[in-house]
Amino acid sequence: MPDTIKVLVTGAAGQIAYSLLYSVAKGDVFGTDQPISLCLLDIAPMMGVLGGVVMELQDCALPHLKEVIATDKEDVAFKDVDVAILVGSMPRREGMERKDLLKANVKIFKSQGAALDKYAKKTAKVIVVGNPANTNCLTALKSAPSIPKENFSCLTRLDHNRAIAQIALKLNVAPSDVKNVIIWGNHSSTQYPDASHATVHVGGKDISAFEAVKDDSWLKGDFLKTVQQRGASVIQARKLSSAMSAAKAICDHVRDIWFGTPEGQFVSMGVISDGNGYGVANDLLYSFPVTIKDKTWKIVEGLKIDDFSREKMDLTAKELIEEKETAFEFLSSA
Ligand code: NAI
Repeated sequence: MPDTIKVLVTGAAGQIAYSLLYSVAKGDVFGTDQPISLCLLDIAPMMGVLGGVVMELQDCALPHLKEVIATDKEDVAFKDVDVAILVGSMPRREGMERKDLLKANVKIFKSQGAALDKYAKKTAKVIVVGNPANTNCLTALKSAPSIPKENFSCLTRLDHNRAIAQIALKLNVAPSDVKNVIIWGNHSSTQYPDASHATVHVGGKDISAFEAVKDDSWLKGDFLKTVQQRGASVIQARKLSSAMSAAKAICDHVRDIWFGTPEGQFVSMGVISDGNGYGVANDLLYSFPVTIKDKTWKIVEGLKIDDFSREKMDLTAKELIEEKETAFEFLSSA
């Protein structure tokens, strides 16, 4: 039996966590024979609600859930953490300026980064979900200098899964038949969902998505818009943001970090851009295609980038540079 691992989920009283915690606790992410100590962090006013979540987790009577800790204290939450899934963040309220939202989140992720630095294992894997996810991840990374920056990533897997689903729906094939889509850049509406390296399994072989779809204007037009705007469409319909699909994407993302990506396949995740071969400025937390082996990601090298893609990749990089500059202003003064 492997040693128990400590998994922290922040924003644990929120709606994504409500979908996520059961999957993590029952073994969807780390395997069904991995004992888990689950630590749940939320803010003080949510401790009552969180108590209910703890009761429900206990009532699931899961064989490998060794312990559930609920807390509003960062020193308790981050102590000896193996995996930290940072979901909680300051939501955008009506009338709130983007700058104010960034400022509130810099405060949270600076503090949680410092807690990681001080209390977590140096091998901890840190996954940031709370928005603005890329810049929050960069803030946490900068605030935890003793943890390797490669241990930090942010979630763009939901966008990746949305892109796969759109192509699968268009062709009436299973999502598992669509591989190697890419989300470049920011988890925002400037992201670039790129199908130019994607393949689809049809007629017993893998062919390029462009060849399979036979509609370039859709792949370069409505496909992009649908994926970029999907989060907003879900909010409009549900009056709440994506939670079930976000939780599923988090499971996919963390499971791939833990067990690696399948041979010949890559996935999208936000990682530090240092030394990439795609002309993205260094020191941005940018979503790239990656493969993962031995719990270590590697940016897929050598993909051809045409002018259409170049323009879209630069646009989303520009937004991330602006977010970073604003966040760093607050970071040095916070
Ligand atoms: P929610 O509002 O239901 O839950 C958020 C929880 O975080 C609340 O319980 C809140 O009290 C808690 N929280 C706030 N500040 C905290 C702090 N400093 N420490 C610990 N907990 C704190 O929100 P939901 O729907 O669960 O979404 C969470 C975040 O995930 C949002 O920022 C959302 O925009 C983001 N998101 C990101 C996606 C991605 O693909 N990267 C996809 C979907 C959502």
